[in-house]
Amino acid sequence: MLSVPGDNPLLSRHREVIAPVISFNTDIPAVSAEGLWVTDVDGRRWADFACGTAVTNLGHNHPDVVAAARRQLDDLVHSGMIFLYEPVVAAAERLREITPPGIDMFAFANSGAEAVEASVKLAKHSTGRQGVIAFRGGFHGRTMGSVSYTTSSSRYRDGYHPMLGSVFVAPFPHPYRWGMTTEAAVEASLRELRLMLKHVVSPHNVACFLVEPVQGEGGYYPAPPAFLEELRSIADDEGILLVYDEVQTGFGRTAEWFASDHFRAKPDIIAMGKGIANGFPLSAYGASQEVIGAWPVGSHGTTYGGNPVCAAAAGAVIDAMEPLLPRARDLSKRAFEGFSELAERHQTIGDVRGLGLMIGVELVTDRETRLPDAKAFKHVQNHVFERELIIIECGPDGNVIRFIPPLITGEEELDWALGLIDDGLTSWEQRED
Ligand SMILES: Cc1ncc(COP(=O)(O)O)c(C=O)c1O
Repeated sequence: MLSVPGDNPLLSRHREVIAPVISFNTDIPAVSAEGLWVTDVDGRRWADFACGTAVTNLGHNHPDVVAAARRQLDDLVHSGMIFLYEPVVAAAERLREITPPGIDMFAFANSGAEAVEASVKLAKHSTGRQGVIAFRGGFHGRTMGSVSYTTSSSRYRDGYHPMLGSVFVAPFPHPYRWGMTTEAAVEASLRELRLMLKHVVSPHNVACFLVEPVQGEGGYYPAPPAFLEELRSIADDEGILLVYDEVQTGFGRTAEWFASDHFRAKPDIIAMGKGIANGFPLSAYGASQEVIGAWPVGSHGTTYGGNPVCAAAAGAVIDAMEPLLPRARDLSKRAFEGFSELAERHQTIGDVRGLGLMIGVELVTDRETRLPDAKAFKHVQNHVFERELIIIECGPDGNVIRFIPPLITGEEELDWALGLIDDGLTSWEQRED
């Protein structure tokens, strides 16, 4: 945990009553936040380039989102599947406009894990099959079902075996880690998948492929287009449903509404969360009316999912985000150029990858061996934190900078952050052990 200097009475109280299993990135005693900036009890401000773990894509407390939620608070806070209410229908109508073609009916839930689990339940019910093929390095949540699909790190699974049955994990192409070209990594992954379908589970037992179009927690690996296209093609041939977990990649994070927008291969079912309501606890999943509309009444449900306040916030998020997407593309270009320039000067940077404003910068001990360097990451993270910038990591080795500024970040703020990372890398490379 990154520590703020000086007394921090909230930390001692926190430690007494909050279970340590829930790990916090910093001990900032935050009292308010606006846009990029989080303010603590002493008035010190930090730029939040973690976005509350890829959630506040519009920046903290976006005024339109807060206003929409506030209006809804006065009218109706809860329905719990007892009566209909307009904001949730309006949010679904808006989702239909922005989700990939073919996705036209939705249901709401509370968290990413729930949306993923519901997506998989839907795939099972719809196909009448029980098998799920997930991909190594994927992160889908921490509930017992979703952790069974999560393989971004074995530590998420430690202590919880046995996992759910009939979950099969196939390789996801990680060209940099495997020291291969993208083409070779795709070929190797697909070869293993085909062998799995021949030796381990027959295609007619497989309900769905569950895949993140850009692996998030697993290290910010975009799926090569050819990989998703082949999954799409096998799915079509074998009656398997293709489920995209867009919990982290959705809502402008890749500078499009969804990562799906970058790829020809579109999903049958999409799970969404995180940025959907910019901090209000909401998630959703969608499919074609043919698939999700045939799910028998009562086969799934929720008490809080689609809460009116959260749904009102989601509508406002979509309105506020639309004009920001072109700007996000410009920012992305600037960030990638900035990191490429840093990579020319810093041998610690092994790889820069990602889509839009979902950028992974992998730090290594040297470029020959590509050994992950978590210490370098910690050093840089501390360096920038001391200068009021929050960044977090991803990847199983804790060595990838997860660079996810909010879409409202200004060019100057972006350059400032890149400058701090540059300085952090310099001081790491010039250290005397
Ligand atoms: C791709 C993906 N799926 C699912 C989840 C789980 O979401 P939640 O923590 O809201 O349950 C996450 C969270 O990080 C995620 O990144």
